[in-house]
Amino acid sequence: MGETAQAGSEELVLGFLAEAGDEFVSGEAISDKLGLSRAAVWKHVNALRGQGYRIDAIPARGYRLVEIPDRLTPLELRPLLATHDLGQALHCFEEVASTSDVAKQLAEDGAAHGEVVIAERQTAGRGRRGRAWASPAGKNLYLSVVLRPELPPQRAPELTLVASVALCDAVRQAGVEAGIKWPNDLLAGGRKLAGILTELAAEPDTVHWVVLGIGVNLNVRAEDFPEELRGEATSLAIERGQPAPRALFTAALLARLEEWLDRHAAEGFGPVRLAWKERSATLGREVRVEVEGREVTGVAEDLDETGALLVRCGKRLARVTSGDVQLLRAR
Ligand code: BTN
Repeated sequence: MGETAQAGSEELVLGFLAEAGDEFVSGEAISDKLGLSRAAVWKHVNALRGQGYRIDAIPARGYRLVEIPDRLTPLELRPLLATHDLGQALHCFEEVASTSDVAKQLAEDGAAHGEVVIAERQTAGRGRRGRAWASPAGKNLYLSVVLRPELPPQRAPELTLVASVALCDAVRQAGVEAGIKWPNDLLAGGRKLAGILTELAAEPDTVHWVVLGIGVNLNVRAEDFPEELRGEATSLAIERGQPAPRALFTAALLARLEEWLDRHAAEGFGPVRLAWKERSATLGREVRVEVEGREVTGVAEDLDETGALLVRCGKRLARVTSGDVQLLRAR
């Protein structure tokens, strides 16, 4: 069953404590600010403790939030969200086949721009080009967001690059020096840490909706990966040597994504292109790609103003608009 967001008093108390960070806040300040009695504040603090929150209470100093449970539900996420659209409607599930399937159905049924679907586990997680996306329970982030961009359909692929820049920023903010492999794979130490699946419904001149499906390996350990992925995949926890608080990461990702979507809407693809190039793990590398059914090897030279990858093969410059890029040796 899904859990949808609704701000109650308990959530407001949690939000107040979360905002104070490491500081104590007095019971009086909370009750004044939220219009609750001191007894009601105490009751909500105890209810939150019962749900796994660690909250210190010290006479004459007040309350302090020490630890939040590692769950992705509206209760954990809402107080952390700093967005105006993304995640304002949150649909959180224990298990779904694919969050992108749920988001696509919501989009077809009229979901608003920014509605977000999150699951603790996917039974049929999908990757690009028909591949499966390993989705074990309770360790990673599986998130899909419905967008209703005002863009002509031919510019929709830009959104994939917008999302990869935002994802890269969120991962770097969490302390891992990630880079982007064209078009939107996030790599750390040469291994894949996150991926984006973009799906859309459009008519020749209108985009009805776009669903960005984002999978981030947060707290899986090397031994949790299927054997065949161990050399190719990594996680935030493996790279930085300590687990990542999933709710904090999710809130940071939605904030970065909204910033970059807003910038793209206001200023066009130019700044996104520059940002993508700065974060690229592809440019300057020798790559192998398929172009028009032919395998091409050359040096990835640039990202053009439509988001295509330009690969230099001798005198020829191949323009890659879809497919997989294989990174060969560094130059
Ligand atoms: C890729 O790199 O191949 C893209 C992977 C995208 C995985 C995410 S997880 C959330 C959303 N739901 C899915 O079924 N897929 C995307």
